[in-house]
Amino acid sequence: AIDFATLTKQTGHTALDYGFVNTAATKSAITFIDGDEGILRYRGYPIEQLAKNSSYLEVAWLLIYGELPTGDQLGEFDEKIRRHTLIHEDLKHFFSALPHTAHPMSVLSSAVSALSTYYEGQSDPHNPEHVELNTIRMLAKLPVLAAYAHKKSIGQAFLYPDNSLSFVDNFLKLNFGVLSEEYVANPVMSRALERLLILHEDHEQNASTSTVRLVGSTGANQFSSISAGINALYGPLHGGANEAVLDMLGKIRDSGEGVKRFVERVKNKEDGVKLMGFGHRVYKNYDPRAKLVKESADEVLAELGVKDPLLDLAKELEEIALNDEYFQSRRLYPNVDFYTGVIYKAMGFPTRMFTVLFAIGRLPGWLAHWNELNTDPQTKIGRPQQLYTGAPERNYPGM
Ligand code: ACO
Repeated sequence: AIDFATLTKQTGHTALDYGFVNTAATKSAITFIDGDEGILRYRGYPIEQLAKNSSYLEVAWLLIYGELPTGDQLGEFDEKIRRHTLIHEDLKHFFSALPHTAHPMSVLSSAVSALSTYYEGQSDPHNPEHVELNTIRMLAKLPVLAAYAHKKSIGQAFLYPDNSLSFVDNFLKLNFGVLSEEYVANPVMSRALERLLILHEDHEQNASTSTVRLVGSTGANQFSSISAGINALYGPLHGGANEAVLDMLGKIRDSGEGVKRFVERVKNKEDGVKLMGFGHRVYKNYDPRAKLVKESADEVLAELGVKDPLLDLAKELEEIALNDEYFQSRRLYPNVDFYTGVIYKAMGFPTRMFTVLFAIGRLPGWLAHWNELNTDPQTKIGRPQQLYTGAPERNYPGM
């Protein structure tokens, strides 16, 4: 096999591929997607089976270590994660330096960068013990930092993690519990959140994972690479779409313009308005995750006793779009973000926390890809080429 660098030298050609539509940057054994058929598998297991039968940590193990864990392995993994949830007390002061209006995604990525300063000297990407420990630290502490970003935004005190609770229940308590009051997570909410997190755990070379890999290819540790991934996820064309969907639905409802008129504006590309939560670079068919989220949206809202007209609005939008030539010819279907926001809202999360929930979901995938990159002997620093279009050489004229 000949590599691209040699090919470029031999042929004198460089491929120009905006958005990497046709360029593979790596081989990977983690996730399989068939975008035409709407298939998603983690390490060979269909997403539908994992979402139904598995837990977030079980799938995290699968993604990171390659096989499903035994009961003992999962028990030990869970125990280790529970023991690493505490955040250094000094790091909590970091939150007070930020305005309460700060977006929780900015707070989270900064907090992960800040977290790395506590583990300098213990973050060598080539030391398997460091890597393993930081894998556990990231899985244990990201949800706590995320909950603190939430508490900060609503002006409430931070709670200590409760290590007697499962991963998801602990996270719910950190978000919705208040000091001196007992909090018991609603099991419907717990299961629904666990399911959503599983659906987000990996999605091969998406923008944030590619960012984690690019940063990781420089020899950066897990904290730095994942902090960069969180920033990439924040964009509205990527993870930020779940927040954008809810904002869009709210605006359609408040403006009174009606769904049909809104869809017309999208089709006419008025002011660049898009149907958020629709379309995907890889899926040219219904996103299998969106199918599962849509199924649970009705169920979860009913079980939580919430009636949200925004869900009806979302369904109406989907119905109109799927029967419209504009969306059909471009093969635009709902993606995972289209219905998640309505569920997160029913659970009581503010809109600005939605992408943070996505980040917690995606963390195991980022860790798995970072590991795969660092154990692949073919890995090289990521360094795209460019085609220069600027001025030819010219002499500095002086003032
Ligand atoms: N609404 C309206 N038109 C759309 C949409 C949309 N959501 N998505 C794509 N199109 C149109 C484009 O305008 C383009 O039309 P044209 O051929 O007339 O120029 C055509 O469909 C192809 O779209 P591209 O932008 O070339 O597709 P690309 O693969 O580059 O983008 C993306 C994929 C970014 C997801 C896009 O569909 C989008 O912006 N969707 C809305 C944001 C969103 O939901 N993002 C979440 C993605 S999933 C995730 O990250 C978890």
